[in-house]
Amino acid sequence: MSIPREIVLASANAGKLREMRAILAPLGLAVRAVSEFTDGSAVEDGLSFVENAIIKARFAAEASGLPAIADDSGLEVDALGGEPGIRSARYAGAGADARANNQKLLEALSEVPPAQRSARFRCAMVFMRWPLDPAPLVSQASWEGRIATQAHGAGGFGYDPLFLPAGLPGTAAELDPDAKNMLSHRGNALRGLVTALAEMAQDR
Ligand code: IMP
Repeated sequence: MSIPREIVLASANAGKLREMRAILAPLGLAVRAVSEFTDGSAVEDGLSFVENAIIKARFAAEASGLPAIADDSGLEVDALGGEPGIRSARYAGAGADARANNQKLLEALSEVPPAQRSARFRCAMVFMRWPLDPAPLVSQASWEGRIATQAHGAGGFGYDPLFLPAGLPGTAAELDPDAKNMLSHRGNALRGLVTALAEMAQDR
């Protein structure tokens, strides 16, 4: 199989699309957004990041007729038993924005000292050649850090203003987009997926 020249990205999140296009564009891959093909969205009722990524990729491949890449990601906080996890986007309720989610997270951790605020972003990234592809490519990665006691920075999206990546002085929202892509769960999962795609193309 050759690497496709055009793929659809299942995400509707502008921040994620920007980050993923930055990694895929140099490969000469034309990247379309699923919103170009449908107003609908997938029902993300999986119980893991991998399941939800497959559901989203299947939906995007079906809507577009193109091979699809989808990711599902979220924040896992140890002091909260892994919450918000797969509920990261709607932690403060259905339709909650990032500010409300971050506020809820700060409140949930208000009694937790810095040393116990360990957390990580996780990402599952999948590639499906067609909607009923029985062998999706799957790549997973994580990004270790801690949750700050107050928000800092205006870059990124979601929980970035509260996420202190291990080994860095500030939050993920204080990194420029290229620096974040080099380090992040999504950047690493996507690079892993690109490597797997290239290997798959070689095997055929
Ligand atoms: P998804 O769109 O279903 O993958 O949900 C991901 C949610 O996890 C987002 O809405 C954010 O709240 C959070 N999230 C995932 N990746 C990041 C990141 O890189 N920075 C900040 N928040 C993230």
